[in-house]
Amino acid sequence: MRAQQITELSGPGSAFVLSDVPEPDATHPVIGGEGVVVDVRAAGVSYPEVLQTRGEYQINPPLPFVPGSEVAGVVRSAPDGAAVRAGDRVAAFCLLGGFAEVAVAPEFLTFPLPEALDFAQGAGLILNYHTAYFALKLRGRLREEETVLVHGAAGGVGTAALQVAKGLGARTFAVVSSDEKERVARAAGADEVLRSDGPWKDEARERSGGGVDVVLDPVGGDRFTDSLRSLAEGGRVVVVGFTGGSIPEVRVNRLLLNNLDVVGAGWGGYVMSKPDVNREIGAEVLRLAEAGFVAPVVGERFPLERAGEALALLDGRGALGKVVLEVA
Ligand SMILES: NC(=O)c1ccc[n+]([C@@H]2O[C@H](COP(=O)([O-])OP(=O)(O)OC[C@H]3O[C@@H](n4cnc5c(N)ncnc54)[C@H](OP(=O)(O)O)[C@@H]3O)[C@@H](O)[C@H]2O)c1
Repeated sequence: MRAQQITELSGPGSAFVLSDVPEPDATHPVIGGEGVVVDVRAAGVSYPEVLQTRGEYQINPPLPFVPGSEVAGVVRSAPDGAAVRAGDRVAAFCLLGGFAEVAVAPEFLTFPLPEALDFAQGAGLILNYHTAYFALKLRGRLREEETVLVHGAAGGVGTAALQVAKGLGARTFAVVSSDEKERVARAAGADEVLRSDGPWKDEARERSGGGVDVVLDPVGGDRFTDSLRSLAEGGRVVVVGFTGGSIPEVRVNRLLLNNLDVVGAGWGGYVMSKPDVNREIGAEVLRLAEAGFVAPVVGERFPLERAGEALALLDGRGALGKVVLEVA
């Protein structure tokens, strides 16, 4: 089968070689045990793959390897007792091996793809939407009618967080860096859009009537203190990632003064050993998709051959919604 392999740790532009490799058998390469074998139609591109091209991510198999953490496609085979079977359209989180014509995903991370979503959208369904639900609901304790501010709101996690927050009955504030990203954030359901180079913290406080309840932050860097300042009493900042580069530090007196929480949300590390939590989150995301709230925003689509360019787009801050590789 055709697959994109990372052959050297030199960054998105030069790390990949399109190769002819043997199809995988049904044993999952990371989790073990029989997985669901999927004929891949689309593969999602995510920030961890950018990091993997430089050897900077926590999952770093020996070279060469096929990256790609999530796919959508059609089930070729599934273990007994799985919720999906041969012929089903699915979205699957495979961890590795997704940039290929055939991939294997753990059974508990493979979900039926709702009729209304195409394969490209399916390739953006698990990582970002499960993370958004986990971060907002399970970690951020978001309740109906609360307000949520989302950084990096036109990106993959950001657009997912806006849609999930709307589905949970919240009012949403998006922080973005350009007009084009503002349009994407609005299409994903932002009630208010603020600019990252403007007085977003003051605007958020003003327009929310005194501060937002939850900030979801996949960006980090120097905006973190202003995120704390944008919160209402009892507010929560949920830490999701650090695309901005630096890892912020918290002066904890700020937490004491306004009774604030800083909460970490590491979806993968938490759910990987908890199949039932995965199934619960999957059921909620499916419910939100069927209710029309969840519909992954697909940005640029690249053929499998151009995986390096797709990753370079994320690396250069150019992604609008989910970037996808079309495989078949
Ligand atoms: N915790 C978890 O379980 C979990 C799960 C999935 C992903 N993540 C992490 O979440 C982060 C976001 O992932 P994503 O897929 O949403 O990425 P993405 O689509 O590339 O979006 C990231 C956004 O970050 C903003 N940004 C600010 N400074 C940036 C910079 N210097 N370089 C690149 N982007 C910058 C950009 O928005 P503006 O230009 O509008 O500022 C961009 O749209 C990543 O760090 C990823 O590893 C964490």
